[in-house]
Amino acid sequence: MLRSRIISTGSYLPEKVLTNDDLEKMVDTSDEWITERTGIKERRIADESQAASDLAYEASKAALERAGLKADDIDLIIVATVTGDMPFPSTACILQDKLGAVNAVGFDINATCSGFLYSLYIADSLIKSRMHKRILVVGAEVLSRITDWEDKTTCVIFGDGAGAVIIEPTEEDRGILSMHINSDGRMWELLHMPGGGSRNPASIDTIKKKLHYIKMKGNETFKVAVRTLEDLVVKTLDENKLDASRLSLLIPHQANLRIIQATADRIGIPMDKVIVNIERYGNTSAASIPIALDEAVRTERIRDGDYILLEAFGGGFTWASALIRW
Ligand code: ACO
Repeated sequence: MLRSRIISTGSYLPEKVLTNDDLEKMVDTSDEWITERTGIKERRIADESQAASDLAYEASKAALERAGLKADDIDLIIVATVTGDMPFPSTACILQDKLGAVNAVGFDINATCSGFLYSLYIADSLIKSRMHKRILVVGAEVLSRITDWEDKTTCVIFGDGAGAVIIEPTEEDRGILSMHINSDGRMWELLHMPGGGSRNPASIDTIKKKLHYIKMKGNETFKVAVRTLEDLVVKTLDENKLDASRLSLLIPHQANLRIIQATADRIGIPMDKVIVNIERYGNTSAASIPIALDEAVRTERIRDGDYILLEAFGGGFTWASALIRW
């Protein structure tokens, strides 16, 4: 049976660290509140000179190097982002240029924090249908550019970073076993950025009204996220007839430590089998899962044959999961 398999991973985090102590000097918040309510201690902030494609480039280069591949070996590039370099062209095309991936075709996916798993879903389908043979899937975000640094309810949460994977076909009994993607547009207003598109094109007025920043009703989003993710992980395991005890790792989107704990509890997986790096990077939206996956690979927390479950929830609302046998 033809499946797709992740053959390599890479990630990149900008050097600049913004700690909770730093934030205490910017807004009316405290290290104690942020740590207790989110699990975040610090996050990375891209240099002024860096855009999403620059972070994506570093992560992609690492994934290519680790696979022993050159950029022209790639035949498709999918970039998941809500903070692309510019409205057009796609960040995937800019990344293609930077990498010199002359044999690839590229496009972007916008599914907020679920964007990496949406992209993996498409890549998996295109491998299984034999349309493509070697796909670079990247999640890259510079959320610091759309964060209102005067809004304590959002600015403590987000961070910048990028992660990349390369996937190829396999006939072996391993790889991506199943993917699940979902959306429900009825609650899109709970988490959105109103400015800069055709609804509210950039103007002096939209800037004055701060429409080019993330607007989130955190508490309502939190409740839907917990309920939805609990159902999603149970459904993903059920559909694969896999008991949670056989999972070696849960790699969740890093939105909030309390959401991660609730999801793990629902399937009874202990926290030592859950990859958590939110304390160091905050919520990097589409980048968080490939960054966490890359860390898990590099620290040898994943071994051949392991079952791992990836899951995410984000604006839209969107949510998605992947069950993988490594
Ligand atoms: N520092 C201090 N106090 C704060 C801060 C802060 N940074 N932020 C909010 N507060 C206050 C509020 O003003 C409120 O005060 P009040 O009771 O006097 O009115 C109180 O803390 C509680 O506020 P809540 O919003 O109810 O806090 P909550 O416990 O829900 O935590 C958080 C907020 C962290 C945002 C949480 O709701 C959350 O993580 N939500 C889910 C986020 C998520 O998963 N998003 C989807 C992915 S992101 C994407 O797709 C781009």
